Amino acid sequence: MSEQREQWGSRWGFVLAAAGSAIGLGNIWRFPWLVGQYGGAAFVMVYLAIVALIGLPVMMCELSVGRASQRAPFKAFSSVGGNPLWNVIGWMAIITGGFLVLSYYNVVGGWTIKYMIESLTGLMDVAAAGESGSFFGGFLGKNHEVVAYQVIFMGLVMLFVAGGIGGGIERTCKIMMPALFGILIILIVRSLSLPGAEAGIEFYLRPDFSKLTGEGILAALGQAFFSLSLGLGAMLTYGSYLKKEEHLPSAAAWACGLDTLIALMAGFAIFPAVFAMGFEPGAGVGLTFITLPGVFAKMPAGMFFSFLFFLLLFFAAVTSAMSLLEAAVTFAIEKFNLKRTDAVLVMGVIIILLGGYSAISLSDKNVFEGAVEKVAFEEGDRLVIAEDAEKIVVEQVERIAVRSFNHPTILGKDFFSAVDDFCNNWLLPLGSLLLCLFVGWFWCEPASKEVTGDGKHSFSWLGMWIFCVRFIAPVGIIVIFLNALGLI
Ligand code: TRP
Repeated sequence: MSEQREQWGSRWGFVLAAAGSAIGLGNIWRFPWLVGQYGGAAFVMVYLAIVALIGLPVMMCELSVGRASQRAPFKAFSSVGGNPLWNVIGWMAIITGGFLVLSYYNVVGGWTIKYMIESLTGLMDVAAAGESGSFFGGFLGKNHEVVAYQVIFMGLVMLFVAGGIGGGIERTCKIMMPALFGILIILIVRSLSLPGAEAGIEFYLRPDFSKLTGEGILAALGQAFFSLSLGLGAMLTYGSYLKKEEHLPSAAAWACGLDTLIALMAGFAIFPAVFAMGFEPGAGVGLTFITLPGVFAKMPAGMFFSFLFFLLLFFAAVTSAMSLLEAAVTFAIEKFNLKRTDAVLVMGVIIILLGGYSAISLSDKNVFEGAVEKVAFEEGDRLVIAEDAEKIVVEQVERIAVRSFNHPTILGKDFFSAVDDFCNNWLLPLGSLLLCLFVGWFWCEPASKEVTGDGKHSFSWLGMWIFCVRFIAPVGIIVIFLNALGLI
């Protein structure tokens, strides 16, 4: 294209946008729980080592291929002099990964909007009555509502991305990321000042090496890729808008550092409060949308803190979703010569349609689980079988039969979980592995030049970086695969 390619306005603009991409749902609903689960501070040490030895080097690879090529991922590799076959990394990243991850990410993004509103209207009463579980299930069962919120969320993301790199994405991140940080601090202060908060910190950080199993280390690896937004071309795309003068290693280090800091901080906002209020911590959807409303409902001014928490989650989700949409949009602009606004519209609509499908598949699962609770439930320590149990079961079996006819599942999972699994366990590591092989073994000289700005920037860790890209990262990723295949 003959026009001047857009660029980030400033170094901080880039760092905040890259951190915005990295800091997402993964930091807030997954990382803290993994820490608690796999040995507290022991897990944190392993995670830090993985981020330093694998995450940061791979992020630098993505950024350097992006910046050197000034292209979207699907032709970045050939345009920096690689065999065009390597472009397959870019195609895979955008078509399969970007779309798929974003299609379910925006569903959850929609939930955060719903919960922000509900926090201020009736959620606290429902949660105080111990009914946040059925409330959530009920919400997921209302397809039209879930889809509507998903469209609102994605509409906002599209609006920001349509504003372009500097004017849209950078500006949004410059507002949302500091706000996110401020909210997190408020929540941490609130959480730590509750009586009984120590038990949460104990659960979160007490080092316990016996819990740090192989499974835990693998979880740390997978989490690092997801949390740092690696392997799907998002960082590559962001890198392609980075100015040549910027010191690439330190920009990458800032993004990785901020991502890790926020993940660690999230645990201090969540666990002390969960334990202080006498709840059991879980992870992901359940912790966020079922347990936490119950926790907030028990604290003074809970409505306010609940609203702040879902606002935090919303900011985290929006800035991550922007990077995934941008990867798809840069692709459409360069592949089909579309104007930015048209590219945003086309890609956004496709993703909304996919997301709609994943939202509905999940709602079905929840309706089913809701029904199971009606068949048998606990009363004191007795299990009671409902009188109309038979009728409920027959109804559900019929519904499932109809459903599996209309909505085929993938390998026995609903679309939402299948996509989530496939991306996290396979696509992200595969994209990163290929990227390391390319940079480490086929494009090492030019990469070194790119990283050091043709020797203008000092970077004393260059040798170490290359060693990580050639050996440590690929070995780490291959171990993930072998484990996923059940071979180790
Ligand atoms: N890093 C984000 C999170 O922690 C998710 C994300 C955004 C992502 N863009 C990505 C994951 C690109 C993989 C690739 O929630």
